[in-house]
This record gives sequence, C-alpha cells and structure tokens, in this order.
Amino acid sequence: MARHLITSALPYINGIKHLGNMVGSMLPADVYSRYLRQRGHDVLYICATDEHGTPAELAAKEQGLPVAEFCARAHDAQKAVYDGFALAFDYFGRSSSRQNVEITQHFARKLNENGFIEERAIRQVYSPADGRFLPDRYVEGTCPHCGYDKARGDQCENCTRVLDPTDLINPRSAISGSTELEVRETKHLFLLQSKLQHEVEAWVARHEDDWPQLASSIARKWLTEGLHDRAITRDLDWGVPVPADTWPELAAEGKVFYVWFDAPIEYIGATKEWADQDPENRDWKAWWYEADDTVRYTEFMAKDNVPFHTVMFPATELGVREPWKKVDYVKAFNWLTYYGGKFSTSQKRGVFTDQALDILPADYWRYFLIANAPESDDSSFTWEHFTATVNKDLADTLGNFVNRVLSFSKKRFGEEVPAGGEPGEAEARLGEEIARLLAEYEEQMEALQFRKAAAALRALWSAGNSYLEEKAPWLEIKTDKEGAALTLRTAMNLIHLYAVVSEPLIPATSAAMRGAFALPDDTASWVGAEEAKALAAVPAGTPFTVPPVLFAKLTDEDLAAYKERFGGEEG
Ligand code: MF3
Ligand code: ZN
Repeated sequence: MARHLITSALPYINGIKHLGNMVGSMLPADVYSRYLRQRGHDVLYICATDEHGTPAELAAKEQGLPVAEFCARAHDAQKAVYDGFALAFDYFGRSSSRQNVEITQHFARKLNENGFIEERAIRQVYSPADGRFLPDRYVEGTCPHCGYDKARGDQCENCTRVLDPTDLINPRSAISGSTELEVRETKHLFLLQSKLQHEVEAWVARHEDDWPQLASSIARKWLTEGLHDRAITRDLDWGVPVPADTWPELAAEGKVFYVWFDAPIEYIGATKEWADQDPENRDWKAWWYEADDTVRYTEFMAKDNVPFHTVMFPATELGVREPWKKVDYVKAFNWLTYYGGKFSTSQKRGVFTDQALDILPADYWRYFLIANAPESDDSSFTWEHFTATVNKDLADTLGNFVNRVLSFSKKRFGEEVPAGGEPGEAEARLGEEIARLLAEYEEQMEALQFRKAAAALRALWSAGNSYLEEKAPWLEIKTDKEGAALTLRTAMNLIHLYAVVSEPLIPATSAAMRGAFALPDDTASWVGAEEAKALAAVPAGTPFTVPPVLFAKLTDEDLAAYKERFGGEEG
C-alpha cells in the first residue's frame, strides 16, 4: 500500500468554470483518487480556489462587492458545483486562508535567507487619480498592432499579442478611466530563479523520463530558454502581504505577493487547513515535509499550467532549502475545444459546469469527459458526439443491460436472484474475458491513461451484452428454465461487478446498481481476478430490486434544444 498525495490545479476564483477546465484537472484527479482508494491506498486529494490577483479584484469590482466578500461567495458557488459533480476532495480550501498566508510568508523569508530574493527598483505606471500603481491589466488603451481600443496592458484580447503597458496608445486607468498616467519608480521583490537553474535542471532530469511527453517537453522548453529572475510582488490591496519583519518598507507600501507565487504553496496551505479543522488529521506534515518514499505526489493540470508546476514551483521549493515534497508525476492535458474553437469564459462560449448539471446528472458528464479526455491531443466537444455517446455507451450498453436483466428475471423468477443450472463453457469464457478486460482497465488506470481506461470499462459492459445475446435467456426459458436462471444469475453478477469497478467514473450510478442487491455484507471495494472469473459474488436467493432507468436516452429534440441554447458550429 502506497500513500498518494493528489492535487488538481487550483481553479481561479473569478466565476464558474467550464467543462474544459473540469476535464483538464479536477475530474481526472477525482477519478484517479477514487480508483486508488478502492484499491486500498491511503489517498489525500487536495484542491482549493485560487483567490488572489487582479482578475479577482476586477470581478469583485464588477459585482460591486468588497473583494474578500466576493471571494467567499464565489468559493461557495464553485464548491457547490464540485459537490454536484461528486468530486470527493479530502479538502477544498482557499488560497486566501490564514494557513496559506503563513506558509507563503515563511517560504519568502527562507528564500531571502538563502539568497534567492533581491529587492529591485522598477519603473511602473502610476495613476495619481487612483492614488496607486497600476498592475499591467489595469492599464487599458489602443493596441498598437491591431487598433483594438480595449487592449489591456498585458495582452491584446483581439489579436492576442503580448504587450507592455507602455506600448498602448492613449493609455488609461481601468479603474477610474483617468488618462493622466505617470511612470514612477517603485521597489519589488525578485525571485532569483537564474541562480536555481542548474538545480532545477538536475531535478527535472531525474523525473522527466517518468512524466508524460506533454509535461516533459514543456519543462524542457522553459529550461532551454533559461530561468529568469522574476518579480514576485505586486501593488494590490488583495493578496498575501509581504511580511513586515523582513521587508518593513515594502510592507508599509502595502505590497503583496504575486498570485502565482502563493497559489501553488496553497497545495500545502490547504493541507494544513484540512489538518486544522480536525485533530485527527494533525499529521499533515507527513504528507509534505520529510515525506518518505512511500508518498507519491501526482499533480493534474492543463498544459498552460505546466511551466509553473515543473519549473517555477519546484524552483521555489528547492530554494527554500527545507525538505518539502516535490511532485513525482505531472499529468498534463491538452484543451477540450467547443466545436473546434476555444471555450471562453469571457465570451461565454461553451458549456459551464453549473449549466451542465442543470441539464443532466453528473455521471453523464463524468463518463463522457473521461472517455474523451484531451490526453494525446486536443479533443472537441460537440452536442452530436455527446448525445451519441450517452445513448450508445450509457443508455444502451450499460443502462439497458441492467434494466433488461433485472426486469426480466423479476418477471419470470420473482424478486430473488434465481437458483439453478451449473456454470458451463459460456460462463467460463465470459469469466476469462472479464478478468482480461478488468486487468486492462486496472493497467490503464495505474498508467493514468483515462481514455483507454474508459474504453476498457466500456468493453467490460459490452462483454455482458454479448453474453446475453449469445445465451438469449428470453428464448432459453422456453426450453431450459435452469439454464435461463444460470444466465440471469451470471448477468446479475456482472451488474454487481460493474457497480464496483465503474465507481471511479460514475459513482452515483454505481451506488444505484450496487443498491439493487440486498447483499448482507457488501463491503467489496474491488474485484480480484479469480472473483471476476467466478462471477458468483451475488449468490442465488439474494433479494433484488429493479432500479429506475439509469440513463435516459437523449432524443433529437434534446439535441436540437442543446444546440439552440448553447450554439452549435463554430461561430
Ligand atoms: N488558477 C490557475 C489557473 O487557473 C492555476 C493555479 S494552480 C496552482 O490557471 F499551482 F497555482 F495552484
Ligand atoms: Zn491587438
């Protein structure tokens, strides 16, 4: 038994996330955590909202709320959606927590003691009307490249070019609109990443062969370009304050740490939050500090997050010169697109996670997203593909199998698993096939190959259908009642096996399938190979009920309505 520390990239606080975000971090982490727990491992799955930075300030301003209040509400709103998706975090924290403030400040002090932080003066846009320095995003103006008149100081949304605030034509404050901007000198803390280049390189070299190619190639690219010293403080009201004991002057000016400095530290901060709310968890440091080799740390994220997790956060951890756990495996994802285009939070294109749950229960989405996870390449969400997958895999292959077997047996043999017949050649073949597919499913899960794991699960479901078609109990019953009883009992055993092993992907449906059987002591958390071959865990005489339809078939009208509501083809 190993101990698994698992984190998903922290969703940013400014609004409900879309399905692309869900499939690229939280959902696969949840599936993997659930799988490992079922296999008897000790798992700690941590996530949190990423709450600092300018986008939080801007979103709060838009809603006319103090930023702390905005974040508290937005955190609860996101948490409710994740509960709806049945994400089984051990803890879902907040990067604005007291614990994260303490650990972030501790990291900064240590980096400073070890010579990795330097104060430097830089020139920055100051707005006298607002009485503050303006972060890049708070300066707006006309893009010098395309003429778009609402370009931001960090990037033009229209032509996507990266900008410097001083590039903008007719710059103005995004806060007050004031055009009387000045450039003033101000001091910031710089993290001397260049001094850590060699150490980070050596550390990456020890791991990159184990990582998926997407993660190691991005890490390599950043290392080849060279690690640059980078400003880790900002002039914002909202963030982790620079500690006054170490930098009294900067603290007095109200400087806070840059959001990408404190956000990954929140993986640790949230673990401490988890520990502080329950004395049983007080051993939190065993997961992070001088963690022994039995702790395996896996991170989940989309590809844009890879540089921060493979290079920058490890550089921070190395520079602290304390034995903080570093990532063992980086599971990175490509993009899920919406009809080949970008899901866009700002342009409200695509499907948001709260809307998804309005339409259909979580298991429909969980299965579809995992079966189409953008692993080796980007993958495209279309309503046509979604409805076809739901109908074929979930409604027909799994749902209909369950319903058909249980209703037919109930009608012909009553409300207990029927007795009679001896397993023969067909059952032996089925058992072999199930054991083989289960081994394949386990192998893909262990390898974090989610699409392939979903394909193996689907093949397990299909094997039941083939068996049923071959034995045709609805014909068998006319000539060989015992034979029909054997077929149905075997099929019911498949249903129970499906309930156990499908849980990581479709937990609510699994519970409904398992609950169909009144087994006295049903604590099985996984199915061993011998058990899979025998298909006899549910004995004759076990009372059962027929659960309500597990997956509704989606109609052409449903499809038309979804496309009407969300827009179809790339617009
Ligand atoms: N909020 C970031 C994003 O949405 C991810 C933060 S991950 C962590 O891209 F490392 F900072 F935690
Ligand atoms: Zn532009």
